[in-house]
Formats: sequence, structure tokens, C-alpha cells
Amino acid sequence: MFELKLEKNWYDAMYKRSSVRAYTGAPDKEQLDRLGVLCRKLSWQGITVRMFKGPGLRSQIKGTDVYAVIVAKKGTPMELEGYMGEALVLEATAMGLGTCWLGAGFHMDVISRNVSLQNDEEVHCVISLGKANLPAFAPKRKDIVKVCGKTEEELAALGVWQKEAVLAARLAPSAINMQPWKITADRSSVAIEEPQFVLYKKYAALDRGIAMLHAAVGAYHAGREAIWKKNEEGYAMKA
Ligand SMILES: Cc1cc2nc3c(=O)[nH]c(=O)nc-3n(C[C@H](O)[C@H](O)[C@H](O)COP(=O)(O)O)c2cc1C
Repeated sequence: MFELKLEKNWYDAMYKRSSVRAYTGAPDKEQLDRLGVLCRKLSWQGITVRMFKGPGLRSQIKGTDVYAVIVAKKGTPMELEGYMGEALVLEATAMGLGTCWLGAGFHMDVISRNVSLQNDEEVHCVISLGKANLPAFAPKRKDIVKVCGKTEEELAALGVWQKEAVLAARLAPSAINMQPWKITADRSSVAIEEPQFVLYKKYAALDRGIAMLHAAVGAYHAGREAIWKKNEEGYAMKA
């Protein structure tokens, strides 16, 4: 699980993305075709990612009517929704597009009809996609020591891939920017787990999956390939 061919340009995308809610237009045809190819690659292990153009997004999203729906078979770990969805976000960012994860910003009845949602399937989030009307800005994140108990220098002393993985995971987007993860790093692994107190649990596992994809892309940038294993509180990566 969580096997995915990572792309080198997702690394820069992680460092330059921020959510976009106002767009100057939908992606053009060539961009849609490329994203469609990626959606097929992301659709496995219980997840299907499908692109739509038309009604479905709430009015908080302006200037585009293109979105991706993450459909999950019931029982699929929610982390996988975050992992595959964020791959689409990073690829779109690398293509120069803006995106926004949406847990509430869509009309569920329209989406259910569009995807012909079956009884054994669920949709928790969609992702809007389009041409951003403003450049990305650096969003606020918790201090690195608060997130993982180590400074950047202490992480670097463990290894380059651990440092890259933790710094990248810290930047991951999350619902209401809650960043509901506890990261631990040692000489052989990086774990992304649920902290003791999570104020908003609804998307915590999906958020964790997004942070896991970031960590994997960070480690890949340092020349390592992540292998994830479930533990009691989340997932740990060896690379
Ligand atoms: C699972 C999830 C659900 C989200 N739902 C919404 C939403 O319904 N409406 C919205 O405007 N933003 C939504 N967001 C975007 C977050 O508010 C945003 O990612 C976070 O504030 C961090 O900012 P950044 O994405 O610019 O880095 C969601 C993000 C995630 C990961």
C-alpha cells in the first residue's frame, strides 16, 4: 500500500503551493489530458480519482468549474485518499495550476450523481483545479520543534532523508490548517502519527496521508524510496 511512482518535480511543488480559492479560468485541454492520465495512475488500492468539469463546487470557489473527486471503497484507509489526492495537487502545482482541497466546499448530491456513487463507496473530499489569480504565498505552519521535537540541525544529524522528509511533511496542507500530526524521526525511520489531542478529527487520517506523501517526496529528493508500515498511531516510513 502507498506504492506510487513519485515525480522529481513534486519536491519544488510542495515548497511553492498554497490553497487557491479564486481562479482566472479552468485548466486548458492539454492540462486536463495530462491530469486525466495521472488520475488513472492514482486509481488503485481502493481509490478512484476522477476529474469533472461543470457544477459541483460551492460558491467559495470562484473562476473554475474543474475538480477532482476522490472516491474510496469503504474500509480503505483514509490516509490513502490524502496520499493519492496530494499527488494530484503536486502534479497540478508543477504544471502551474492552483488547487484547493475541499471537505465542505462541494455539493454532495451533485458529486454523488456525477460519480454514480455505489453503496460501498464514499467521497470525503474533492480538489478544485484551475488557473490561479494570485501567486502562491507561504502558509503558516507549526514550528519544526513543536511538530517533531527536534531542530533542523538535529534532524540533519540523523540523516539527510529524515530531515527532508520531516521538513516536507510539516508543510503539508490540512483541514482548517490544524496540522494534526506528531512526527518522530530516528536513525532508521520517520513516523507520522496522531497526537494525543486532536481538536478536529474528521479529516485527521486524510491529513496524515497528505503529510505522508510529502514525507515520501522529501525522502525521494534525498535519494531514498519510502516504504510505509502501519503502527498503532499512524504510519512509519523506512527509506
Ligand atoms: C482534508 C482537507 C479539507 C479541506 N477543506 C476545505 C474546505 O472545505 N474549504 C476551504 O476553503 N479549504 C479547505 N481546505 C484547505 C485548508 O484550509 C488549507 O489547506 C489549510 O488552511 C492550509 O493552507 P494551504 O493549503 O494554503 O497551505 C481543506 C484542506 C484539507 C487538507
